[in-house]
Amino acid sequence: MRQPLVMGNWKLNGTKASVEALIKGLVDPAANASNVTVAVCPPAVFLDQVERLTQGTAIKFGSQDADIHENGAFTGENSPVTLKEFGCTYALVGHSERRTLHAESDQVIAEKYAAVQKGGLLPVLCIGETLEQFEAGQTNQVVETQLKAVIDRNGVESLADAVIAYEPVWAIGTGKTATPEIAQNVHAHIRNYLKGFNAEIAAKVQILYGGSVKGANAKGLFGMEDIDGALVGGASLQADEFASIIEGAK
Ligand code: 13P
Repeated sequence: MRQPLVMGNWKLNGTKASVEALIKGLVDPAANASNVTVAVCPPAVFLDQVERLTQGTAIKFGSQDADIHENGAFTGENSPVTLKEFGCTYALVGHSERRTLHAESDQVIAEKYAAVQKGGLLPVLCIGETLEQFEAGQTNQVVETQLKAVIDRNGVESLADAVIAYEPVWAIGTGKTATPEIAQNVHAHIRNYLKGFNAEIAAKVQILYGGSVKGANAKGLFGMEDIDGALVGGASLQADEFASIIEGAK
């Protein structure tokens, strides 16, 4: 049995006041969903505040990115070791906004994945195709290439301590969610592809869906066999809406 995981990616949003209100609003929904892991990924500058606010709660948290290096002359970056010290459980790796806006290649992402695991964090490997690739019928091929880069660098065994998030780029922030059937097909393909490397790991790895998930569509997605939760952007910024997604995963 794979435990559902509902994770909020706050992206570049939040103030000290909104972070406090949001975490406080999630304490009860997380406590009341004992079979669901609830996590948030705030901007790094809020990690200390989130660590303090989540102490003694069921809410876990992670970073939205991490550098390849532990320390050194890398202005503006965050070390996996520091993220661990600040209480992160997870680190997103390879979010499409990093791939596109920061030109992160599959190889860089595979290195980040390695660095995050070395630092004691669970990588949440984000993969997914663009609209153009979707329309050209290349989805399966794209996610295989993205996974293969990580497997080549780190071995399939590295996926035993990781999460995969399938986020079709065309569904991110667009209000256009993949239908449960479309998402399920890709999730099943991902699991089947991994099965070719290691059946046990393929059966165990959590595969989240991301892309315009909200309370109204969460339950339909979570009802699918290979969808183990969600990585939520916009809807994770409102406690009530995020709580209704958690409710859908129970
Ligand atoms: P939205 O839920 O805003 O579409 O964002 C999804 C996402 O990118 C989560 O990482």
